Amino acid sequence: MTGPQTTEARLVHPADPGPGSWHRDAVIYQIYPRSWADADGDGVGDLPGITARLEHLVELGVDAVWLSPFYPSPQADAGYDISDHRDVDPLFGSLADADALLARAHELGLKVIVDLVPNHTSDEHPWFAAALASPPGSPERARYVFRDGRGHGGELPPTNWSSAFGGAAWTRVVEADGRPGQWYLHVFDRRQPDLNWDHPEVRADFEDVLRFWLDRGVDGFRVDVASGLVKDPAMPDWHGPLRVQGVDADGRPHPARDQEGVHEIYRAWRRLLEEHPGDRVLVAEAWVADLDRVARYVRPDEMHQAFNFAYLLTPWRAADLRQTVAESLRANDAVGAPTTWVLSNHDVVRHASRLGTPARGGRMTGIGADDPQPDGPAGLRRARAATLLMLALPGAAYLYQGEELGLPEHTTLPDEARQDPTFVRTGGTEKGRDGARVPIPWEAGGPSYGFSASGRSWLPQPREWARYAVDAQRGVPGSTYELYRAALRLRRGRHLGRGDLRWLDAPEDVVALGNGDLVVLANTGEQPVALPGGAEVLLASDDLPGDGTLPPDTTAWLVPA
Ligand code: GLC
Repeated sequence: MTGPQTTEARLVHPADPGPGSWHRDAVIYQIYPRSWADADGDGVGDLPGITARLEHLVELGVDAVWLSPFYPSPQADAGYDISDHRDVDPLFGSLADADALLARAHELGLKVIVDLVPNHTSDEHPWFAAALASPPGSPERARYVFRDGRGHGGELPPTNWSSAFGGAAWTRVVEADGRPGQWYLHVFDRRQPDLNWDHPEVRADFEDVLRFWLDRGVDGFRVDVASGLVKDPAMPDWHGPLRVQGVDADGRPHPARDQEGVHEIYRAWRRLLEEHPGDRVLVAEAWVADLDRVARYVRPDEMHQAFNFAYLLTPWRAADLRQTVAESLRANDAVGAPTTWVLSNHDVVRHASRLGTPARGGRMTGIGADDPQPDGPAGLRRARAATLLMLALPGAAYLYQGEELGLPEHTTLPDEARQDPTFVRTGGTEKGRDGARVPIPWEAGGPSYGFSASGRSWLPQPREWARYAVDAQRGVPGSTYELYRAALRLRRGRHLGRGDLRWLDAPEDVVALGNGDLVVLANTGEQPVALPGGAEVLLASDDLPGDGTLPPDTTAWLVPA
């Protein structure tokens, strides 16, 4: 291979010119509060635990934190079932603890994004309790999606819709007279009734929730199920793909995903954010397949960012990666929004395991002890290479707690330990997401690896996790933790998140790109490839052999001679 060449014609993304908002090139670290650090010893992480360990994030070199929900909740879906949007669940602490966390994060120069879950509430939300206690047609029921059933006596659900967690998306209630009555919609668990976003009270209440947290000083919101709030009023049956926006065989769009009506909600929220001082942001969690449809959520008067799940789902193969990267930048550039990049979160198999499967990534619904096991070393090697590629790309990047340690998925969790409602609702055919949610190892020798002084942990941690602990990796050359630190330092120093992107000539299996004067080569193939002669290697995802080649499943950041 000769040295990578660049021509203007291959520029796929110009540098981000403006000073603009902090979020455009931020690295945002997702904390899953249940599993980060437990201060009170009950085996579930909490806000004081997070506050006490925020320095970790400064040392790592990220810009912001996104916190998964910590609000009052019966925890039927690990806190994504909220019974009060304006408080903190005692499991996680108190409002004063949330204030202390925000203050400490800001003192350390970290922004804080909180989760907002507007599609549904918990079944223990006072509104839902009132709806159940009130008759069909009552104002209390109008805040949710209640319908009469089909068939004789209404014994069939109003539509054929499936829950994203398995089973039907409707549950029938028992009316005050003791007879089976109406059905309510729950696109997720039966304990997560969908709200009716046509109802002015629902809209007003969520605007008030936004104000509540903006006034407490949060820097933004990650909006859960952002594509799902509005349903097709005709409520047609659906025979297309279940989890993401798509069209069915007749070309009809999903009746509960990516409906046009969602956008006016986000326009109103954007106006509301702009009435508040500071630089606050809205981030869309929209599992929408088409990148141009995702970009509609980040038009100038809507949200600021959307998770790039297309990138997360792209297998570790150069041609696929090039295509997704180019498409992502094109679609977002068209609306003037920063592109985001993400490889892991609390809903997917960790990328250190996902990339170690024969498919080298893609969509997965959990891994169990009876499933084929990922190739651990190959997965970790590819995960490190994939991360180094991701962190060189212009735009914002999301990291999920533990990936900086190279943590794999827990793939042998006993079924009795599983808590994800997906596992139960699919009768165990989908193992679910618990394997990505296991508490973090901080100390190789501590009880529950330093997660909790009591040694408790709400999900069991695998025995071999001592070697992933933060204190086993800190200061150790070549450790995944030090690789992330070095990459984040270089990324920040070279403003890679604001940079441009040019494709460079390279063999088919290699992603070769330029960003400023940095050259990035990611070898996804089976053979070593030659590095450009005389180039200085700033960082590589694994040791280089020293013979001028880049081994398979390795990424290098270089400055050409
Ligand atoms: C989002 C969350 C997921 C949750 C679901 C329902 O996809 O990320 O964890 O189960 O919404 O709230």
